[in-house]
Amino acid sequence: MAKSPSKSAAPSIHIGISDKDRATIAQGLSRLLADTYTLYLTTHNFHWNVTGPMFNTLHTMFMGQYTELWNAVDPIAERIRALGHVAPGSYAEFTALASVPDAPSKPPKALEMVRVLVEGHEAVARTARSLFPAADKASDEPTADLLTQRLAVHEQTAWMLRSLLEE
Ligand SMILES: [Fe+2]
Repeated sequence: MAKSPSKSAAPSIHIGISDKDRATIAQGLSRLLADTYTLYLTTHNFHWNVTGPMFNTLHTMFMGQYTELWNAVDPIAERIRALGHVAPGSYAEFTALASVPDAPSKPPKALEMVRVLVEGHEAVARTARSLFPAADKASDEPTADLLTQRLAVHEQTAWMLRSLLEE
């Protein structure tokens, strides 16, 4: 029996956002996912490898931060799926997509870790902020809401980390 193309093809998506806009937004969210995952891993790395007199403070602080980042990757990936696209989920894809650099190969000193994380949170904030025009153009409020939440977290975390570097 001949296969019916209409049955074998994936159902089309009619949520009021054009195919082109869904693709653009999903591509942007993929970059945000890669940045978030990369910063998650660096923060967990620093939780493991921090040393010095600030050990207790930073070990505990980094745990709160990597847990938040770990929880954040899921809604970002699932928004990409809701827009009809495949969520990236490999180190190769994340490396290609991320604006945040991979963790340093040798653990830096404690305050240098803090500086690396400030820059990481600022970079993820810039990525999230850059996606608003595409989301706004398509009236993609769920994506805009997600971006707003992520921006608030990254800007607040950057401030808290930055404060550790001030006299
Ligand atoms: Fe731990």
